[in-house]
Amino acid sequence: MNKFAVLCATLLFSSLLSWTPLHATEAVYDIASMLEEMNTIQNNDTLLAQALQDGKTRAQFCFHCHGTDGNSRRDHIPNLAQQNATYLFTQFEHFVTGERKDYVMNRLAGSLTRNDRIAIALHFADQVVTPREQPVAPSAAGERLYNSLCFACHGRHGHGDQQYPRIAGQPYEFLEKTLLSFLHKTDARKSSPMIGVMQSLSEQQVRDVAAHVAHMP
Ligand code: HEC
Ligand code: HEC
Repeated sequence: MNKFAVLCATLLFSSLLSWTPLHATEAVYDIASMLEEMNTIQNNDTLLAQALQDGKTRAQFCFHCHGTDGNSRRDHIPNLAQQNATYLFTQFEHFVTGERKDYVMNRLAGSLTRNDRIAIALHFADQVVTPREQPVAPSAAGERLYNSLCFACHGRHGHGDQQYPRIAGQPYEFLEKTLLSFLHKTDARKSSPMIGVMQSLSEQQVRDVAAHVAHMP
């Protein structure tokens, strides 16, 4: 990185951390009504074109980490491309209330207004997950585990639906970190239903299933 890029990165990071959410107390919104509004927008070409443009502007800040097209730029950061809207809205709320813990996201989520969340979800829903280089090979043991333990909720292809998140093609490091933290019952996402699901697995099985999911298209 040249000096200018280092300076920009430093300024960006310090402004992010000192960014006080203006509407933190109102930052929990009705998810059903947001989905309804999103649906109305998606069924109207003019509204959709405008919302996608807004979404791209409002998501500028997210691109540094989650990528312009929602394909993460760092292995410990999740893709947002093709993620389902209910899941995105729920996670914004979990970050705001502190139920899910992440230093950056806890600060950022509180600054997103209702309209920001809708526009950002529309932008990322419109993007496609692209295969990335993963640090581990696909795992046959992981595939067997997936097909017996995970498919019932996340779907045969790991694409989820309005109730369950898409997990296919996430970076391996993010999957391993997340699943191990469920296994070890850390307080990072302490009321997640995944904690119960993971208790029957060993650490090796967690790594196997993560390797399989990372390579799912
Ligand atoms: C400095 C890096 C950074 C920036 C900027 C950033 N994020 Fe994140 N984001 C993360 C990390 C790291 C995680 C994973 C947290 C964890 O492990 O629980 C995450 C997780 C998320 C999740 C949960 C996704 C999932 O699959 O569980 C959502 C949704 C999200 N971010 C949305 C956003 C939005 C919207 C923006 C812009 C307003 C944004 N992020 C900006 C680093 C960042
Ligand atoms: C009973 C339904 C259910 C089963 C079975 C299940 N999951 Fe989940 N999973 C969920 C739900 C619900 C969430 C969202 C959790 C939250 O909001 O904390 C989730 C979240 C996740 C996440 C975090 C996604 C993200 O982007 O942050 C991963 C990774 C995951 N599951 C992997 C798996 C794997 C691998 C298996 C099989 C070993 C599995 N799940 C089985 C319901 C399930």
